[in-house]
Amino acid sequence: MTVPQQAEAGPTTRPAVEIVGVRKQFAGRSRRAPGRLALDGFDLTVAPGEFLCLLGPSGCGKSTLLNMLAGFSRPDAGQVLADGQPVTGPGPDRGVLFQTPMLFPWLTTLDNVLYGPRARHQLDAEARARAVELLGTVGLADAREAYPHELSGGMRHRAAFARVLVNRPRLLLMDEPFGALDAITRVAMQRFLLDLWQRERTTIVFVTHDVEEAALLGDRVCVMSGSPGRTRAIIDVDLPRPRSIADTETLEFVRLKRRIREALEAEHHDGDGDDGDGGDGGDGAGRVAGVGPAVGHADRSAGEGAH
Ligand SMILES: Nc1ncnc2c1ncn2[C@@H]1O[C@H](COP(=O)(O)OP(=O)(O)OP(=O)(O)O)[C@@H](O)[C@H]1O
Ligand SMILES: [Mg+2]
Repeated sequence: MTVPQQAEAGPTTRPAVEIVGVRKQFAGRSRRAPGRLALDGFDLTVAPGEFLCLLGPSGCGKSTLLNMLAGFSRPDAGQVLADGQPVTGPGPDRGVLFQTPMLFPWLTTLDNVLYGPRARHQLDAEARARAVELLGTVGLADAREAYPHELSGGMRHRAAFARVLVNRPRLLLMDEPFGALDAITRVAMQRFLLDLWQRERTTIVFVTHDVEEAALLGDRVCVMSGSPGRTRAIIDVDLPRPRSIADTETLEFVRLKRRIREALEAEHHDGDGDDGDGGDGGDGAGRVAGVGPAVGHADRSAGEGAH
């Protein structure tokens, strides 16, 4: 049932993320109310520098996973490792971007960006210079002294980006960061993220509902099933980089989207609870690897071959 891809990473290449046999149950509202098994037997490995998209139906446990990677919550069973270390709490090595940008309304854009260095007592000239440079990179050089309420939605997202990037995170965790944006701003933010990733090669775990977004951005797409959340399929995105929104009109792209959608729809056809048959299948046009409850790959080629 499970057909793992061959891990090409050598013994010295440590995965950026390793999630092994993770289970997470939420308690019911009262003692009698049943608890909710959000994740069970979830495995995933992300290679350094890889752009991994997590896609799945609402409630399948995407945010639960990201929260555990961020260190906001702990698994009930299994392991969550970042850079080979168990995640025990939040840290500046992992930057988190939510759907709604997190900015302090009483701080200027620049002071919002400097929040991390200040909190760590590292507010030196280097940190200031980096914050100013980052604000330039995200196109907010002229908005340094503006407060969040004076920024547009897209500008707030870019400010939140700079705020996370100033900490030089090794891992960027993004939970539907562009879901609430209008189509034009969303495309601009996707372009910005692709440029940034192309330059910095930060490992990214990106949660989205949007098949097209996953195919445009990711090296691989992890399609999840729900109730409880598990890996349904891992789909390699073998499209050349750099990518742009124009690529979404190519035949290859449309085929890829169909493969991803089929994996998602197989999930819905399965109904609740039982996804153990592993029967979504690929269409042969590409690799739909690893169907079933336990799939984890350190696929270095996915990360490195995507220039
Ligand atoms: N703090 C919590 N208390 C109780 N149940 C929770 C809690 N957080 C999540 N859950 C439950 O765990 C399951 C997974 O939730 P999660 O937020 O991870 O889903 P998701 O995949 O991010 O969904 P969406 O795409 O809608 O954001 C859901 O059934 C949800 O009701
Ligand atoms: Mg969510």
